[in-house]
Amino acid sequence: MNNRRRNEKEIDKDTLCVNDAQDAHNMLLVRGGSPLIGELEISGAKNAALPVLCATILSNGIFEIENCPRLKDVFTLIELLSSLGARCEWQDEPDERQGAITNTPCGTTLKINTANIASQDAPSELVRRMRASFLVLGPLLARFGIARVPLPGGCEIGSRPVNFHEAGLKALGARWHVKEGFVEVTARRLKGADIVLDFPSVTATEHLMMTATLCEGKTIIENAAREPEVEDLGQMLNAMGARIEGLGTSKIMIQGVKRLSPVRWRVIPDRIETGTFMMAVGIAGGDVTLKGTMPSYLDAVITKLRLTGLDIETDENAGAIRVFKKRHKRLNPVDVTTSPYPGFPTDLQAQLTAMMAFSSGVSVVTEQIFENRFRHVDELRRLGADIRVEHRSAIIKGKEMLTGAPLTATDLRASASLVIAGLGADGETAVFDIHHLDRGYERLDGKLRAIGADIDRR
Ligand code: EPU
Repeated sequence: MNNRRRNEKEIDKDTLCVNDAQDAHNMLLVRGGSPLIGELEISGAKNAALPVLCATILSNGIFEIENCPRLKDVFTLIELLSSLGARCEWQDEPDERQGAITNTPCGTTLKINTANIASQDAPSELVRRMRASFLVLGPLLARFGIARVPLPGGCEIGSRPVNFHEAGLKALGARWHVKEGFVEVTARRLKGADIVLDFPSVTATEHLMMTATLCEGKTIIENAAREPEVEDLGQMLNAMGARIEGLGTSKIMIQGVKRLSPVRWRVIPDRIETGTFMMAVGIAGGDVTLKGTMPSYLDAVITKLRLTGLDIETDENAGAIRVFKKRHKRLNPVDVTTSPYPGFPTDLQAQLTAMMAFSSGVSVVTEQIFENRFRHVDELRRLGADIRVEHRSAIIKGKEMLTGAPLTATDLRASASLVIAGLGADGETAVFDIHHLDRGYERLDGKLRAIGADIDRR
């Protein structure tokens, strides 16, 4: 109990140094018309950091997670790990990069001690706040033989079932019961199995891969997700002593081992944050170099953005992307369909839809991954955008100018799309409910301001 208390305090102290100012203000005011010019450091990937943090449960000891983004979803997972008994502390290495942008001295290395995990019972409130926390289920089961985690419900972008997670864990030998909204899994002995996913789900692949590392024998996951975040997690697990092959392909093979050891691990750059800034330049115009990123993760995005007429130079060795466009140059329309990696990511669909609202013709953007991911469209229309949704496609007739308006953010990527649309609109755009934005971006507004955007948090 004392331990738990102390952890909560540490987390409060550490998270507050970046986030209390954000909590107090839930609106961003964007005045369009300023070009974006300068250099920006890209943060660690949210969707890589979350499973990496869950994977620490698989072993007993001290992990150091570098380049861990300081954003709300990560803070929620820290709270969850702490509630299980882990000790989480941000290292106070001064981080020039963050300091330059936020004037805070906080580092981005997170130290997690999993030696004292004593509970296998995840609090409902935390899992409800963030679906990805469901990923603690398999690691708790693999380490302790038992786990109880709330069953996540639907969310803003669709129904999002967990049937692949359920079928996979059962194939590995787990007994699965749903009681009072919680999933209870138990297993005396987990055994490797052949698993075929009906769809290459990112978190189902991650969940089953983590669990299979400590199973007896060999697991094969067919139709596995190939996202860089899945590959990063697999490489971290291998560094911990797991025996995983086939990472980055759709067939992942895991030979179970008896135990895993803690490691120091560096989270990969956020390709979605990178793409969001590229599209911000597409809308506002300017000349921005994004550093600390990985251009090859964005091949499909860069190919499409070049077709729009955006100028892009990449340097894989330096981890840099330069993107530039004259402010009044109209972009060409493009048709895009989202698909699993290496296709165009669904997490950049809303931002692309916003960008195409300023193009010189008609674009069709089709969403294949989630059933309800066009809620930004109604809000973009309030800026005067000409967009209609038919089934799973948005048909966007580009306009030379949109006009600022009050908008409401509905989910994480939708929020980002509204903010960057505001950069190109005439006058003031107020984006409300930006707590959605803070879940998955490390100070998007601060970074945009650093490259010349006229944007304030109110
Ligand atoms: N699906 C099922 N059953 C399952 C799991 C998934 O039917 O058991 C379906 C989903 O409903 C969806 C499709 O499979 O239609 C793909 O979903 P996936 O499982 O790949 O998504 P996810 O793993 O829940 C991750 C990211 C999302 C991102 C998607 C797709 C994390 C923590 N989340 O979600 O990120 O959109 O992959 O790339 O990695 C975001 O960052 O804004 C975000 C939503």
